[in-house]
Amino acid sequence: MNDPLVYLNGKFTPISEAHVPVLDRGFIFGDGIYEVIPVYGRKMFRSDQHLARLNRSLAAIGIPNPHSKEEWLKLIAQVMAAHTADDQMVYLQVTRGVAKRAHAFPAEITPTVFIMTNPIVLPNANARANGVVCVSMEDKRWLHCEIKSISLLGNVLAAQNAAEHQATESIQFRDGFLSEASASNVWVVKDGKVIGPPKDNLILEGIRYGLIEELCAAKDIPFEMRRIPRVEVFAADEVFLTSATKEVLAVVKIDDQTIGHGSNAGKPGPIYHQLYAAYQDAKAASPA
Ligand code: PDD
Repeated sequence: MNDPLVYLNGKFTPISEAHVPVLDRGFIFGDGIYEVIPVYGRKMFRSDQHLARLNRSLAAIGIPNPHSKEEWLKLIAQVMAAHTADDQMVYLQVTRGVAKRAHAFPAEITPTVFIMTNPIVLPNANARANGVVCVSMEDKRWLHCEIKSISLLGNVLAAQNAAEHQATESIQFRDGFLSEASASNVWVVKDGKVIGPPKDNLILEGIRYGLIEELCAAKDIPFEMRRIPRVEVFAADEVFLTSATKEVLAVVKIDDQTIGHGSNAGKPGPIYHQLYAAYQDAKAASPA
C-alpha cells in the first residue's frame, strides 16, 4: 500500500499512523491555518513568500509560529526527501492544538503541526492548450479571506458548485465586483493591461499575486490593481487564474459566455501565453 511519510508534531510517520485527537481545535472549530507550496525538481518555488504568508496567517489568528524559517525549511525538506516525485505539492497546517471545547482561545496552547507532500497535479494538456470553463457565483464567504484559514467551507461549496457545472472553478463576485475563485486568484486583461482585484480582506493574496506583478514589470505589460465590476470580467479580452497548482491558466468561457474578441475569442490569449512562458522561466531560474 502507498503509505507516504508525513510529519506530525515532532515525528515522521507513515500517513496511516498519523493521528490527531478529536479535541484538536482544527477538528472542532477549523481553528488553524495552512499553506500549499509547489516544488519543482525537488526545489520549493517561492518558499520565502509562502513562509512569510504563513507568518501573517498565524499572526492574524494569534497563534505563535511554532518554528523558525530554518526549522520549517528543514522539516519540509525531510518530508520531501522521503518521496520519489521530483515535482511535489507540500501541504502544511498549524492548528491551535488540543483543548476542552470552548470557543475562546485556551490560556496555554501547543499548536498541532502537520506536513505532507504529494506529487503535484498540474493542469492537463487539454486545459493548457484550450483554456478552461468557469462558472460565476456570489461570494458568500466571510470577510477575512486574506487569512489562509483551514475553515474552508465557503470555498468547498464554491468548488462543489463548479464541479456540478463541469467547470474548473467558480469565479466569485461580491456586491457586483470580482473577488476570486474557490482556490485561485482571478485576473482580467483589457487593452493589453493585466488587472487584478486589490489585495484586501476580500481575497487571499496568492503567492502568484506578487509574481504576476513582477512578471508584468519584466515583460513591460501594464499592471493595475483595482475593483473590477462584473461586466468588465465578461467583456475582458482575456481572463486567467493563478494558484500554486494551476500556475497560470486561461479561462475561455464563464457561464456559457465566451471570453475574448475576434480571432482570440474562446482561446487562451497573447498575454496569457507571455505570462505562462515567463512563469516557466521563473520556475527554472528559482534558487534552491
Ligand atoms: N489555493 N485564493 C484562494 C482562495 C486559494 O485557495 C488559493 C490557493 C489562491 C492562490 O494562492 P497561491 O498563488 O498562493 O497558490 C487564491 C491552494 C492552492 C489550495 O488551497 O490548495
